[in-house]
Amino acid sequence: MFNTKLGLLKYFFFRNDRAWRSLSQDERNAILRLNVASNADREDYQNEKTYGSERFLGGENWDCSIPHSTVPKALFLKEHLKVSGPRRALEIGPGPGYVSRLIAEQASLQELCFVEVNPFFLSYLKKKSDEFRVQHPQVTFHFRQGLFPQVDVGTGYDLVALYSCLHHIPNRDDVLRKLAELTVPNGTVVLWDPAHYLPRIIDLVKKIFSRKILRPAESEDYSRFATHHFLTVGEIRSLCDRHPFRLEAYQCELGGKYRVFQFLPLWLRKYFCSEIGFVLRRVSR
Ligand SMILES: C[S@@+](CC[C@H](N)C(=O)[O-])C[C@H]1O[C@@H](n2cnc3c(N)ncnc32)[C@H](O)[C@@H]1O
Repeated sequence: MFNTKLGLLKYFFFRNDRAWRSLSQDERNAILRLNVASNADREDYQNEKTYGSERFLGGENWDCSIPHSTVPKALFLKEHLKVSGPRRALEIGPGPGYVSRLIAEQASLQELCFVEVNPFFLSYLKKKSDEFRVQHPQVTFHFRQGLFPQVDVGTGYDLVALYSCLHHIPNRDDVLRKLAELTVPNGTVVLWDPAHYLPRIIDLVKKIFSRKILRPAESEDYSRFATHHFLTVGEIRSLCDRHPFRLEAYQCELGGKYRVFQFLPLWLRKYFCSEIGFVLRRVSR
């Protein structure tokens, strides 16, 4: 698929599950390997102050002073935490912890486990959670370094959060299978990620010309094809059809000039969104 222009066109423009299914096993393995390397080693992921500094002055991290209630992705989680009142939570890909602190501060919380492939972020979170426990000794933290869904994180969670993380994980049937094992009945999974709709498609079209992304791979160097596979409602619905989850709610965030479409009903507005959030509920099937 990476060796022809048509294959690359499908890979970049098809929704993630269809593109992923079209890859050969070797190509899938190569992308998964590259995703580990790019998340663990990239330069802006080695310092909590550089991560997200283009969005928030001083970085998007545990200590960031921008109130969660003013940031759409954080507000989506905050409102869900209020109604769900989780006791045991898992956060996958917490990075330097901007929404982790929001979860930790939830009054009902007793246990929070982080799974993160990047060792720098994990040791930063260890330091922050030790400081947090001085005031909140009722919350116990656990840390697992590794790649979800391969890494063992235990079971029995009533909340799992993946924030700006699922777009780094293209093998989503494996993710949902694992999430079904580790959530309690009626537990919830909250996702927030970049969306694969018009703004992204236009961006990709521009990249065809500026970065020549349709240049076929030479030999087996697939490094240009990792690591961003954005989300659509269609893919999440079809995952919920195959796994014991119900899509309970979703919310779209429009950016820049696309805000003029804010008045449209949600089913239509989603085509113009750049970020999207989902709440999935664990059901028994
Ligand atoms: C874009 S950052 C998001 C950080 C944070 N959740 C936020 O919203 O600001 C993605 C994070 O997910 C981690 N990550 C990506 N794929 C992962 C995987 N398969 N398992 C565990 N962590 C992963 C990366 O190392 C990185 O810290």
